[in-house]
Amino acid sequence: MSILEKLRVKPLEWIEDKLDGPVFRWLDTRQLPWEEVYRETRDYRRVAQAIKTMEIRGAPAIGVAAAYGLALAAYYSEARSVDELLARLEEAYKVLASTRPTAYNLFWALNRVMSKAREAAKHKGVDGIVREVIEEAKKIHIEDVEANIKLGKIGAKLIEDGDTILTHCNAGALATAGYGTAEGVMRAAIEEGKRIKVIATETRPLLQGARLTVWELVKEGIEVRLITDNMVGYVMYKGLVDKVIVGADRITVDGYVANKIGTYTIAVLAYRHRIPFYVAAPTSTFDLSLEGDSIPIEEREADEVRTILGKLLITVPDVPVYNPAFDITPPELVTAIITERGIVTPPYTQSIRKLFKD
Ligand code: MRU
Repeated sequence: MSILEKLRVKPLEWIEDKLDGPVFRWLDTRQLPWEEVYRETRDYRRVAQAIKTMEIRGAPAIGVAAAYGLALAAYYSEARSVDELLARLEEAYKVLASTRPTAYNLFWALNRVMSKAREAAKHKGVDGIVREVIEEAKKIHIEDVEANIKLGKIGAKLIEDGDTILTHCNAGALATAGYGTAEGVMRAAIEEGKRIKVIATETRPLLQGARLTVWELVKEGIEVRLITDNMVGYVMYKGLVDKVIVGADRITVDGYVANKIGTYTIAVLAYRHRIPFYVAAPTSTFDLSLEGDSIPIEEREADEVRTILGKLLITVPDVPVYNPAFDITPPELVTAIITERGIVTPPYTQSIRKLFKD
């Protein structure tokens, strides 16, 4: 059985269909926890739409999906020449890259597939390039699961038997190729026989914590308690949290971490209460070209804040809204970053460079 077949939750799948051509399939996370709805497409534009509307979300999952988007664009391009195929791929790249600006894995995965295509174009014909593009997307998929499993094992060393871990948003199977980063660490700790409890924040406005993290943990039989975002300070004050572990959307070369809005607040509170604040992320989330708080932050529609998931209006209809989807936690609040290559600690300017050099 391949590593992908072994996954308990399969958020993303590439299905070979010899008759009608390959299909990309995904679990629509907008429908969770109410319904498990799988969607599929042969059109890269539909993949872009699924990323934009957050049917697929979480930085690593976005990266894998975008890579498969390029694979679909290549396979169904009907290009007759290498130049035509590369032009089609460039078009698809633009559409896919314009979906979500903060998640670095998106650009990392798209660039990786594009360089593979350009490299292949030097000595292969159209069919050869298409094959290479599909293979590269599949590799990115498998490598993400492998990286998560590795970082999970590495991070589990930081967890003690009996710990209560607070997490924010969803950095589990549904946010990745199927294992999870922050949740991967929890899973690995449990596999080592440690007993842990989780506190999940609901994560307004789109409730990824309440809808997705709780769904995943309950499904796996991991003890979880749900709190609203504004309860974090009190639960820390009461001594109910031993560690915080969150995922990341982008990490700069000097250790600034972009993650779901509210992460910064939790990091400040963790610092105040002397609680370790860990970030778990694969190396594909590190953007070595940026430093400081220069990460682009996505701003989303006002109605996400004015309503509960578009279903219930909770304010005056036209009230002006500010809706940044992410915030940036500065390195001085981050105890350590757990990656598949090891754990990095401050000073991050040195440790992150060393991680990539090694
Ligand atoms: O807006 P989302 O749901 O895509 O935000 C997701 C997060 O902030 C996650 O914590 C992050 O992508 C890491 S997922 C392993």
